[in-house]
Amino acid sequence: MMNILLLGKHGQLGWELRRILPTLGALTAIDREDLDLTSPQALRQVLREIQPGLIVNASAYTDVDRAETETALAQAVNAETPAILAEESARLGALLLHYSTDYVFDGAQTRPYLETDPVNPLNAYGRTKLQGEQAIAAQGGAFFTFRTSWVYSMRGNGFVTKILRWAGQQEVLRVVEDQTGSPTWARTLAQLSAQAALLALAHGKDWALAHSGLYHLGGEGQATRFQWAQAVLDLHPDPSQKRCHTLQPALSAEFPLPALRPSFTPLDCGLFQQTFGLRIPPWREDLRLAMDT
Ligand SMILES: NC(=O)c1ccc[n+]([C@@H]2O[C@H](COP(=O)([O-])OP(=O)(O)OC[C@H]3O[C@@H](n4cnc5c(N)ncnc54)[C@H](OP(=O)(O)O)[C@@H]3O)[C@@H](O)[C@H]2O)c1
Repeated sequence: MMNILLLGKHGQLGWELRRILPTLGALTAIDREDLDLTSPQALRQVLREIQPGLIVNASAYTDVDRAETETALAQAVNAETPAILAEESARLGALLLHYSTDYVFDGAQTRPYLETDPVNPLNAYGRTKLQGEQAIAAQGGAFFTFRTSWVYSMRGNGFVTKILRWAGQQEVLRVVEDQTGSPTWARTLAQLSAQAALLALAHGKDWALAHSGLYHLGGEGQATRFQWAQAVLDLHPDPSQKRCHTLQPALSAEFPLPALRPSFTPLDCGLFQQTFGLRIPPWREDLRLAMDT
């Protein structure tokens, strides 16, 4: 029986992965309370104890604004941890699944981004995540880095849950229309990740090595944050709790934040779909399922 190590089990994605990965092997799922990722020695020790055949890294420093000032911490979690995981993973002959972000791009493009498009992160979070991608690619082990975008779940404090909360408190909501991306349901991302891992494990090490690399993996299609919020309100699970009757388009400049956001980062996920023979559902289809509670 293969051992699997999941890092970041309490995160949006980690929570979903924790429910899927036990079908692939014996899962050890950890988070901050088990291991602080700023301690490289402790991380190496856990890996050597568990001897995983599959390592799934759903942990990350994801506070985009705080990363501007806590850059060293963001770098430790987003760049140095992946480097250690990749090194140990190659040593163990394991498969490593890692996640990166659409924020490696500057958003200047007008068509969805391909894996081969030039990167140019606008903020510290994006720069540290890019370093993580590069550190993994440099190790030469078997890995898939899935660059994803606008991840949401019905738990925690992400975009969808915030819109639902605000809609219960305010009559008018203002949401930016000058940021476009690919809304990605954490559950679908976890399922597609597990299916890709299963395929690679079934094909064997040579296949995994030959197909190792970077793949874009976000919800199919694109939306502005305004359109996404509108879709959330249209699908509100309990309209009697909805005070909001007007959604107004706004501009990012009206809400100054420490970190710059790229204005256009939808991902072209054709390579993932072709390589793994999997379908990525349109983001609206997924949102409908996510909100069907
Ligand atoms: N969320 C998005 O919109 C988005 C967009 C593009 C890409 N991604 C990428 O997708 C992946 C999953 O994102 P997510 O939204 O599921 O992230 P998340 O909900 O923020 O979860 C990240 C997890 O990592 C843990 N973590 C952070 N620092 C740690 C440390 N020093 N030691 C141990 N654990 C630590 C967090 O614990 P604490 O809660 O205790 O900090 C949390 O459980 C990440 O690689 C992220 O960069 C996310």
